[in-house]
Amino acid sequence: MKPTTNVKQLLKSKAEGQPVTLMGWVRTNRGNKHVRFLAVNDGSCQASIQVVAETQGIDAELLKRATTGSCVGIQGVLVPSQGQGQAVEIKAQELRVLGDADPEEYPLQKKGHSMEFLREIAHLRPRTNTFGAIFRIRHALSFAIHKYFNDNGFCYVHTPIITGSDAEGAGAMFRVSTLDAAKPPMRPDGHVDFSQDFFGKETNLTVSGQLEAELAAMGLGLVYTFGPTFRAENSNTPRHLAEFWMIEPEMAFYDIHDNMDLAEDFLKYLVLYALENCADDLEFLGQMYDKELLDRLHFVVENPFRRITYTEAVEILLASGQKFEYPVAWGNDLQAEHERYLVEKHFQCPVTVTGYPKGIKAFYMKLNEDGRTVRAMDVLFPKIGEIIGGSQREEDLETLRGRVAEMGIPEKDMWWYLDTRRWGTCPHSGFGLGFERLVMFITGMANIRDVIPFPRTPKNAEF
Ligand code: 4AD
Ligand code: MG
Repeated sequence: MKPTTNVKQLLKSKAEGQPVTLMGWVRTNRGNKHVRFLAVNDGSCQASIQVVAETQGIDAELLKRATTGSCVGIQGVLVPSQGQGQAVEIKAQELRVLGDADPEEYPLQKKGHSMEFLREIAHLRPRTNTFGAIFRIRHALSFAIHKYFNDNGFCYVHTPIITGSDAEGAGAMFRVSTLDAAKPPMRPDGHVDFSQDFFGKETNLTVSGQLEAELAAMGLGLVYTFGPTFRAENSNTPRHLAEFWMIEPEMAFYDIHDNMDLAEDFLKYLVLYALENCADDLEFLGQMYDKELLDRLHFVVENPFRRITYTEAVEILLASGQKFEYPVAWGNDLQAEHERYLVEKHFQCPVTVTGYPKGIKAFYMKLNEDGRTVRAMDVLFPKIGEIIGGSQREEDLETLRGRVAEMGIPEKDMWWYLDTRRWGTCPHSGFGLGFERLVMFITGMANIRDVIPFPRTPKNAEF
């Protein structure tokens, strides 16, 4: 027996008594000793389909085994529903229990488990309405990202996950090594001898694909990466993961304004895509968790983002009269509390901040004429804070070498990056969108651990 259809298709079909074979997991099994009503979900959509099984035709013992969480196969016919709440239902002619789920032990018995509890059973989360919705939306957004770039003439480049460079400086890194951790080979100076390691040098998991994406943009023009990135910071917040997915477009001939325009258009496209293609799942999440979710999504699509400079942001924060945990002063980085004040209280809309002090941003960002600020841009979103970080890149070889030296980065590690400025350099820009932060915003989830199937955070790598 193999399914001939799925619940999503069936709910859209005209019920004309046609034969169907369906498989899925039982959500509920109600009724009496003559007739049982099974709600069966197969993950194809938010809704379950009602299966009507009369104990005259179907073995009562089998029906008893079709408890919440069990997996069943049904052969029957699709008929107009007799009851309320659904247009169609399956009248079962044959039932098979493919996998029992002992009601004494199966953990997902009742509705309304806490998100914390569900995280502990992340291997079973996909069977819940909530995580079905979240993971379908995550899928739809992944698809939309590729569609957006493909339709706009971008080339998808696969940047390495194992890297020998630590120049990006975006965060602490996870080492990749095959050396014996208990007894690594040592150099006479007392340091580990990485020349004996797999790659003959020290290597790590990448924090970003940007530097390699820049190389590709210098030949292909418009490129993007979409892959996993890794940061070994001990940030135990609802917005940080040690392993997260990032989308990084890199565009030759774009300045910071073109970059801001693209970021805004891209984000609006993705939110609109979700509204148009994931309506049932968004409706469900809005009802269950956040009554303002749909309004917030529509607002982002329909309104321009505000654009301000870092210096203006600091002035607004200083004049706000708010007590912040982290002090506000020109030169200090903006903290999540500052970002959220700007977005949620002051402007009440998404905000793009540019012109950050060079001291708090990466070496590759293009220096402004003032010599103090760089053409950085962060896009700040309600409930999220920073969702995108990016910049125009420094394309001038001598200025870039100066910045590399200032930041204490050995030039010999960066020869390939500097080469792009040596030959055929051009103005270019790019940004990184944190995929899980986007999924958080669109699903309304408050914790980033709930928008990725198997989150990796400090002291947590189960499953
Ligand atoms: O601002 P970040 O560190 O920028 C970069 O990595 C640049 N190389 C991007 C570029 O210009 N190509 O990170 C970009 C985005 C952040 O705005 C945030 O949304 C997300 O990645 N992000 C994280 N998401 C989850 N967990 C973490 N630990 C994250 N760190 C950054
Ligand atoms: Mg950033």
